[in-house]
Amino acid sequence: MAIREVCVLLLPLLALAYAEHVKFLDCGSEVGRVVLVDIHPCPKQPCQLHKGQSYAVNVTFNSEVSSQTSKAVVHGVIAGVPVPFPIPIEDGCECGISCPIQKQAIYNYVNQLPVKTEYPRLKLVVEWELRDDNNKDLFCIKFPVQIVS
Ligand SMILES: *[C@@H]1O[C@H](CO)[C@@H](O)[C@H](O)[C@H]1NC(C)=O
Repeated sequence: MAIREVCVLLLPLLALAYAEHVKFLDCGSEVGRVVLVDIHPCPKQPCQLHKGQSYAVNVTFNSEVSSQTSKAVVHGVIAGVPVPFPIPIEDGCECGISCPIQKQAIYNYVNQLPVKTEYPRLKLVVEWELRDDNNKDLFCIKFPVQIVS
């Protein structure tokens, strides 16, 4: 096999190893549309969250409304039951979004997901919402994670 062909074959694989676009489900974004979700670090999916570490979550979305405010609500869904998952900053306007939010603009919402040492080791689904002035979801995403020691 020629060198050139090797590179052509390997490059997409390398790109995949570094890209951390996470597979997510939309759980009812009413007034926005999610473009992509990045979690760092998350070399393989579902993301393995180590206790005592913090993970950067970056959600790129398009807003379909204008809004003065935005508020994040995060749940961990364990065996189908949503449990509130505390995050350090609830205000989306302090997390990469310059407010007021404009209609038909693209935003990057960037926040930290801290994983406390006292959390049990388990698999769960993280459900992350960002709500507008009217309590409607600018985005609602779900992705599976695994808490490991
Ligand atoms: C968030 O993701 C977007 C799109 O990939 C990227 O342009 C931006 O730099 C990221 N922001 C941070 C803080 O990682």
